[in-house]
Amino acid sequence: MKGQSLLPLALVLFMLPASFAQTSGGAMKPVAYKVVDGNKVDGDTLQGWKTWRALACERCHGAKQEGMVGPSLIEAFKTLDKNEFHRTVFGGRVEKGMPDFSTSTMMQKNWENLYAYLKGRSDGKINPGDLQSMDPK
Ligand code: HEC
Repeated sequence: MKGQSLLPLALVLFMLPASFAQTSGGAMKPVAYKVVDGNKVDGDTLQGWKTWRALACERCHGAKQEGMVGPSLIEAFKTLDKNEFHRTVFGGRVEKGMPDFSTSTMMQKNWENLYAYLKGRSDGKINPGDLQSMDPK
């Protein structure tokens, strides 16, 4: 009897975190990067830049993100929202030359950080080239 009456409550508790996870995994988190002197950034944004480097996006978009084979991301990020970025990177536009990065663990973990980094570049707040952490370790 006791077990039966608790079941609905248990179901509600089980479902709540799941619906939360759905919104927080999407575009809800605001884009936040912190930068000092143009080249010292917060830890998350640093991870974003490392992801850019590790996945060699510069092969096509240029070391300064100004475009080569692929378009300028400085321009693109003036309008590209997080959802559109997610769609582009997870799935790619393979027929147009933009690879699909959905199988990359680094991308799965860091796409929001990468978005923040590229937004900072596009805003002109983050300098091209190497970055450091703003909190000395
Ligand atoms: C092999 C070349 C290549 C590589 C590597 C590459 N891209 Fe692209 N990317 C392209 C091309 C070409 C397009 C334009 C596709 C189109 O015409 O729609 C593109 C488009 C994009 C767009 C959409 C721009 C817009 O105007 O909507 C984003 C964002 C993007 N790439 C991000 C990245 C990121 C981040 C990486 C690294 C993880 C990356 N790309 C690596 C070739 C590449």
